[in-house]
Amino acid sequence: MTTAIIDQLMGETAPIKSGERCGPLKETLCIEGGHPLHGLVRVSGAKNAGLVLMAASIMADGETILDNLPRIRDVEVMIEILNDIGVDTSWNEDDSLSICPPAGKVKNHTSYDLAKQMRASNLFLGSMLGRQGEAIVSLPGGCDIGSRPMDLHIKGVAALGTEVKIEHGYIFANTKQPSGARVYLDFPSVGATENIMMIAAKTPGTSIIENAAKEPEIVDLANFLNSMGARIRGAGTDLIKIEGVSSLKAGRYAIIPDRIEAGTYMVGAAISGGEIQVENIIPTHLHPIIAKLQETGAHIEENDRGLLVRAGNKISPVDIKTLPYPGFPTDMQSQMMALLSLAPGSSMIVENVFENRFQIVDELKRMGANIKVEGHTAVIEGVKNLYGAQVKATDLRAGAALVLAALTAEGETEIEDAIHIFRGYEDIVEKLTTLGAKVHKGYMEGEYTD
Ligand code: EPZ
Repeated sequence: MTTAIIDQLMGETAPIKSGERCGPLKETLCIEGGHPLHGLVRVSGAKNAGLVLMAASIMADGETILDNLPRIRDVEVMIEILNDIGVDTSWNEDDSLSICPPAGKVKNHTSYDLAKQMRASNLFLGSMLGRQGEAIVSLPGGCDIGSRPMDLHIKGVAALGTEVKIEHGYIFANTKQPSGARVYLDFPSVGATENIMMIAAKTPGTSIIENAAKEPEIVDLANFLNSMGARIRGAGTDLIKIEGVSSLKAGRYAIIPDRIEAGTYMVGAAISGGEIQVENIIPTHLHPIIAKLQETGAHIEENDRGLLVRAGNKISPVDIKTLPYPGFPTDMQSQMMALLSLAPGSSMIVENVFENRFQIVDELKRMGANIKVEGHTAVIEGVKNLYGAQVKATDLRAGAALVLAALTAEGETEIEDAIHIFRGYEDIVEKLTTLGAKVHKGYMEGEYTD
């Protein structure tokens, strides 16, 4: 790798758009507790399907149109990355997004400034290799929920004939002898499964992913790639078979609804003592969340428009172990911790997917929760009520959980670094306000903390 490219990588910074706020103000969310949620909420498209489909769209010749893509901060960052590598994008009148890669190669790396804002930028490893056989992807820095390694991603693309070097915090990948291969994943990693599916879709021969991730977002990616002419079978099971094809053709595709956003609002009804109708969902994607919420005493019934969720007379303590799908989703762990903070008795949460996903505990304790953490296990002793406080969103789902806690807390809560929440929840202020919550955006002095 020539030092020129490395200098360029290290030197590049994302262009600051004129007028972009660079000042010290940062967004907060202010919530007055004591207002149960009532009414209808329509779930947006799934963030974790939309992001990978945006990355995969560069593998197709022609214009891809994505429907049901949520207008959230992570999608905006993904659009900046696509534009940065030479891909045109535009929002259409009907709220779909058009993505038009150039005729030739795209720029084979993204600026560090953009890549470090979002782990999902690592999904360009598979899609760039699938498109043009070369990719330079920033190794993601650590984040608030764990170290986020990429060893399984690298093992997968290497098995399919890609030479991989890691230098200066970047993965330099070049496909030398592309050929299908069998890859066993030591852990059913969502991102690694997605990257291997994308490169394999355009790699000559047959590839097999064993111990593949089974999340609904994996199935959505397979359906999207197959709609472009890929030949992927078995997505949603732990064995995925891919026959490589020479080219993929762009088309139009509607993204699945966001099961984690749906689950978050369902907990909102349960924790605030309310009753809401949740629309635009796929019930099977929600089974682990429905089952656990019913165990806590919430009443949930499926109807032809979605789910009717009503708070129980009391919140019962339960034990939760997070697991890869179809186990209980780690992305709902913080939200359930907020709910169980009010369940009389002892609840236990074991976090089996990420090594550091209890950052929310200290913030909930500032609101009066009684929680003890030992390694991967948190023991929650339910308290009678929570109190409003100044708290900080440390990551997307912890931020969402603080919103839920604030809905029921006595008094006002101000959530700092609310930008984390806006990364994954479309129109959250509008949706909560429509449901009767008293919530508004605020600003406070100070730099964003990563
Ligand atoms: C995806 O992250 C989601 N993000 C995460 O959602 C979600 O929590 C996670 O899957 C698990 O469901 C997107 O889809 C953009 P993993 P990903 O690879 O792909 C270890 C949210 O809040 N691992 O399945 O990064 C890793 O350290 C976000 O929406 C390796 O050891 O998750 C972790 O412990 C947060 N080596 C575990 O696997 C690897 O090469 C799960 O990670 C890759 C992963």
